[in-house]
Amino acid sequence: MSAQTPSVKRLTPPDIRARKGGEPLVCLTAYDAPMAKLLDPHCDFILVGDSVGMVVHGLPNTIGVTLDMMILHGQAVMRGSDRALVCVDMPFSSYERSKEQAFDNAARVLQDTGCQAVKVESGVYVAETIRYLAERAIPVVGHVGLRPQAALAEGGFKAKGRDDASRARVLEEAIATDEAGAFAIVVEGVAEDLAREISETVKAPTIGIGASARCDGQILVTQDMMGLFDWTPRFVKRYADLKTAMEAGVEAYAAEVRARSFPGPDQVYKARKG
Ligand code: KIV
Repeated sequence: MSAQTPSVKRLTPPDIRARKGGEPLVCLTAYDAPMAKLLDPHCDFILVGDSVGMVVHGLPNTIGVTLDMMILHGQAVMRGSDRALVCVDMPFSSYERSKEQAFDNAARVLQDTGCQAVKVESGVYVAETIRYLAERAIPVVGHVGLRPQAALAEGGFKAKGRDDASRARVLEEAIATDEAGAFAIVVEGVAEDLAREISETVKAPTIGIGASARCDGQILVTQDMMGLFDWTPRFVKRYADLKTAMEAGVEAYAAEVRARSFPGPDQVYKARKG
């Protein structure tokens, strides 16, 4: 084994693609190294989502997220993981102007972070860009249905496929994304029957979010499913209640500091040793 060979092999875009119709893909978001380390043994795919803008930076939507932010968070997630495929979101305005702009920025993300793939929100007009990137060896994940970067234009985060025209548009987006060469497609905010139809139509594995178990896998924002916030999207099941646990911990800490009753280093060390 050479010094460069890592002991654990990371999943690759072909590994993810090969899961079409097979064992469901377990996917979550991470924005920092400790979270990536925690998720890595359980996840096939870790997304450094531009949701980082809302979840970590307190932005109202993802429009203000920059390429530099994505690169910084992508680097941290790569340091914290060694098994899952890490995909970094291309933020708003980093890929829409031209195929060349998309290539330059996507290449920078791959080179500066060491991640395995980038994700673009793929309206039909983005298909040409996906093809350009894929032909130049940039692994691309598409994202159809509810596209958060369209939130300003659409007046919020709107579920898709509620009428025939919207349904046909999402299906068209998914087919265009697939034919352009995306190796996986995130399908967000669509009803179960449309998720099934998309998954049965496209060759790439579909990764649902608010799109039922009829996809080839699921992705959620980790902080949402771990219950860190008061509000989470209606479709998110909470698997833990981190907010309550953290509030209780902080309250207990504050009370001890105020009462000067917190333990000194020796007491802590003894207690932790058991
Ligand atoms: O930015 C994000 O976190 C996403 C989702 C698919 C979770 O795009």
